[in-house]
Parts: sequence; structure tokens; C-alpha cells
Amino acid sequence: MNIHTLCFSPTGTTKKIVQGIAQGTGHNEICHTDITFRTPSATNYGTGDLIIVAVPVYGGHVAPAAMKRMEGLRGNGALAVAVVVYGNRHYEHALEELADFLSARGFCLIGAGTFIGEHSYSTPETPIAVGRPDTEDLACAVRFGEGIARKLASDHPDDIIDARQIEQPEQDSQVMMLFKQTVMGWMKDGLQMPSAPLVDEALCTHCDACAGLCPTGAINNNTVEAGKCIKCCACVKGCPVGARSFPTPFAPLLAKNFSQRKENKILL
Ligand SMILES: Cc1cc2nc3c(=O)[nH]c(=O)nc-3n(C[C@H](O)[C@H](O)[C@H](O)COP(=O)(O)O)c2cc1C
Ligand code: SF4
Ligand code: SF4
Repeated sequence: MNIHTLCFSPTGTTKKIVQGIAQGTGHNEICHTDITFRTPSATNYGTGDLIIVAVPVYGGHVAPAAMKRMEGLRGNGALAVAVVVYGNRHYEHALEELADFLSARGFCLIGAGTFIGEHSYSTPETPIAVGRPDTEDLACAVRFGEGIARKLASDHPDDIIDARQIEQPEQDSQVMMLFKQTVMGWMKDGLQMPSAPLVDEALCTHCDACAGLCPTGAINNNTVEAGKCIKCCACVKGCPVGARSFPTPFAPLLAKNFSQRKENKILL
């Protein structure tokens, strides 16, 4: 079996998870494809291939930019594992979406996982799932990879799973309802959301590092083209002097309501 990974990961948490899963499979020759900055060149798979697809959750869905980059994928009967990485709030529709997307493109889904990564909006003032995936999360990713390898070696490697059967994260329904009510209130009141990160000119050294980190090429001459910005916060987290910020009201709301640790879930 040829094992492949494919991930979209502006702030690197999804990539860490998929690397952990790949390590756990114990296979030495794994083909890794990172679609953060480009659409993949190889898009056709077939029987004899297994692909582990990992994407971050944006607004309860698969990050739209990742979906777009994956449009050309064709399974032709290849096996697939669907993984979504989310910032300790919830992944809502994302796993189902990714599973349906892969199945519709001819992949046989044999595994699924929901993992936690530090929230893209997390800052020292508004910490959300800081440092995740941590050692425990990565050990879980490795165990998942080991489980995938065992399934491949079994006499039923292509047993299809139903991603909807995965265990849900532990979530206080009252907290989630209050969160949703607050967001709906913001929308009703027409609260203006920042359309892209801001730069503090007093701190910025014009090193251009942020432009290189931007998955959509939205930063030119230190200016962000808001229409291209996917609010991934790679530029914020990657600025060596902390000159970029994304002052979204979501950050304090998430930090307040979703500080309780959620755990990764896997299904094989
Ligand atoms: C625009 C945007 C929307 C997000 N929406 C959610 C969400 O609905 N639920 C959640 O738990 N995390 C959400 N997150 C957090 C990311 O899913 C999480 O930080 C993930 O680990 C980022 O992956 P990366 O490090 O590979 O970029 C969102 C992040 C961004 C940038
Ligand atoms: S990475 Fe930071 S310091 Fe460098 S150009 Fe971007 S905002 Fe300025
Ligand atoms: S400019 Fe927007 S899309 Fe580019 S790295 Fe920053 S947040 Fe992400």
C-alpha cells in the first residue's frame, strides 16, 4: 500500500497532527503533500493508495481555501482517512463535509479523526487551546496511525466507516447556546468584524516574512488585500516582532467560553 498525506495548514497545527499519524503508520516511504500554498500537482489516486487528508475547521466547516485546493482530487477506489483539526470550540459540519467530499470523489473512507490545535485567534491575552497539539495529542495521532496500519494489515482493510458515528467532543450545551446567541446578537447589531489583520507601523521592520507566510498571497508591500485574506492568522503568529494583530471580538469570546480541554476522537 502506498501511503500519502495531504494537508492545508496555515498555522502549522494540522500539519503536526498529520505528521504524527503518518509516523504511527510505521511506513518509511510516505508521500507528503502540503496544499497550504498551492493546489496539488498529483490529484489522481487508485487502489493500492491510502491518503490521509487533514484540514482545519473554519466557522464549523472545512476551511474553504482547502476545499478549493482539493477540488481536483480523484480517488478511483483509493482508501482515505479524513481528519479535521479545530481550535477547541467545535468542528460542527466539517468532518461530515470532508467525508462526503472524499466519498463523492471516489475514495473509500476507512478512518476519521477530530483533533485539537491551538486556535488561530489565540493570543497571550486571549489564550485558546494554547500549545496544542501537545505531547498527549501527538501521542494520540501516533496511536491513530498505528491503528490505521493494523487495519491495512488486517483481512478487512477496506471496511468503510461512517464518519457520523465518531464520538462527539464533550461540550456543555448551555455554553454553546450562549456563544451562538452572542454571535447572532453581533450580526443583528451589524457589529463590524475586521476583514484582515492590522499592522503596527511602529513595530514593523518591513522584513516581509508575513508575505511569505500568507497562503493566499494577500500581502503585498506590507499591505493586506482584504478580499484575498482568509483570516488564517499565519501572518499574525509568524511576525517575529508581534507587529501584526487580528483584533476580532471572537478571540475573547472563545477564550472565555472554550477554555475547557476537549479531547481528540478517532474512528476506524
Ligand atoms: C477563520 C477561522 C475560523 C475558525 N473557526 C473555528 C471553529 O468553527 N471551531 C473551532 O473549534 N476552531 C476554529 N478555528 C480554529 C482552527 O480550526 C484551529 O486553530 C486550527 O488548529 C488551525 O489549523 P492550522 O494551524 O493548521 O492553520 C478557526 C480558525 C480560523 C482562522
Ligand atoms: S513579518 Fe512583521 S515585521 Fe515583518 S513585514 Fe510583516 S508585519 Fe512587518
Ligand atoms: S493576510 Fe490574511 S490570509 Fe494572509 S496570512 Fe494574514 S490572515 Fe492569513
